[in-house]
Amino acid sequence: MTDPRLSELARQLPALKLSTDPGDLEHHGRDWTRRWAPAPLAIAWPSSIEDVQGVVRWANAHGVGIVPSGGRTGLSGGAVAAHGELVVSLDRMNRVLAFDPIDRILTVQPGIALEAVQNAAQEQGLLYPVSFAARGSCQIGGNIATNAGGIRVIRYGNTRQWVAGLKVVTGTGELLDLNRGLIKNASGYDLRHLVIGSEGTLGIVVEATLTLTSPPPASQVMLLAVPAMDALMKVFAEARHRLRLEAFEFFTDRALHHVLAHGAQRPFDDTHPFYVVTEFDAADEQAEADALAFFGLCMDEGWVADGAIAANEAQAAALWRLREGITESLAPHKPYKNDVSVRISAVPAFMAEMEALLAEGYPHFDVVWFGHIGDGNLHINVLKPTDLDNATFVAQCEHVTALLVDTLARHGGSISAEHGIGLVKKPWLGSVRSDAEIALMRGIKAVWDPRGIMNPGKLL
Ligand code: MLT
Ligand code: ZN
Repeated sequence: MTDPRLSELARQLPALKLSTDPGDLEHHGRDWTRRWAPAPLAIAWPSSIEDVQGVVRWANAHGVGIVPSGGRTGLSGGAVAAHGELVVSLDRMNRVLAFDPIDRILTVQPGIALEAVQNAAQEQGLLYPVSFAARGSCQIGGNIATNAGGIRVIRYGNTRQWVAGLKVVTGTGELLDLNRGLIKNASGYDLRHLVIGSEGTLGIVVEATLTLTSPPPASQVMLLAVPAMDALMKVFAEARHRLRLEAFEFFTDRALHHVLAHGAQRPFDDTHPFYVVTEFDAADEQAEADALAFFGLCMDEGWVADGAIAANEAQAAALWRLREGITESLAPHKPYKNDVSVRISAVPAFMAEMEALLAEGYPHFDVVWFGHIGDGNLHINVLKPTDLDNATFVAQCEHVTALLVDTLARHGGSISAEHGIGLVKKPWLGSVRSDAEIALMRGIKAVWDPRGIMNPGKLL
């Protein structure tokens, strides 16, 4: 370590793994946004809470910014280190610490992958229900920092709902033990919920106690081809009325085009404007009959043009791949990602207005819509035309975002449903939050992190 500050850190915390290897800096200095050139000072891998506290105290003493780092699957630049920050990777703090069968709570370290949490729950005959395509590589600490949502929010809510306790190291190096797994705790401000969704700007999650639940009964997966957005809303209302939904996701024919080009199997002979993948409880013959009756009604009413029900797990996985494979299939096209939310009932009007604006102003852009329509959460991905350079493309997309912000405001929506503000959406925070709210947020940040070292430049 040629930097004397790093030599001091290494001396103070002998168990801390540190690297300034260019490959490590490149790898750990960015997330999935790929827009900013990584330029961290170094990467640190603590293996204990005490080392995390030591790192934070050292960073305070030297005025070095800290970027907490999990699986870096984020899509808003929240885990980017482009200005000489120390990246604090939680990769080595990745163990299950405890399970309590009476409380049905699982205590884990922050660097454990979401899928490993799901597997640990399953080993106990229980379920950790938050799930999304990045589950194999994202980490629970990052899920908590962004209040991650995903494909089962319609049934189970966001990550927030499943966090029963948190240990957090604040921006001053103080260790907080928040809520300790209690179900009821009427003792003032719930600081746990302040940390959830704070995008690493208040402190570092060093331990999480998660509530588990009973696994759902057997389920069925259905794919529907839908001719129009108004019809899709009717399908949704009917599905929610007749079935016990676990997921209700949509994508357009453009999304299907890309996922098929990426190796997925074509589901229907014809193409259709919209598709829905839905999963619902199908524990017995009655539930299966309800599902068939629902499908029959949708066909009779003309709300659905075609459909497929998975007959086994492999078919269910193939149907889910059409939805969950979208992000990966779009990645080579360097998409500019928007992740918005409106009330479900506002989706058709919002979408029609946006499509008209996009067709008028940006006819050369391939715009791909998909997402968690059952939560009013739409992902709008604009793909980079091959003949456009990166900077021009991003500049043009930011004009699109300005239109989007305007349209969202008229429909009472939000510029980020689940990906977070990070760097990407920071210029538009004021479109969702009032000046008074932002002033309070800044005040809170100043108390938790007086020297402003925690994930500097993100969110606020
Ligand atoms: C998804 O719903 O697939 C994720 O939010 C990822 C994405 O938006 O690309
Ligand atoms: Zn999503």
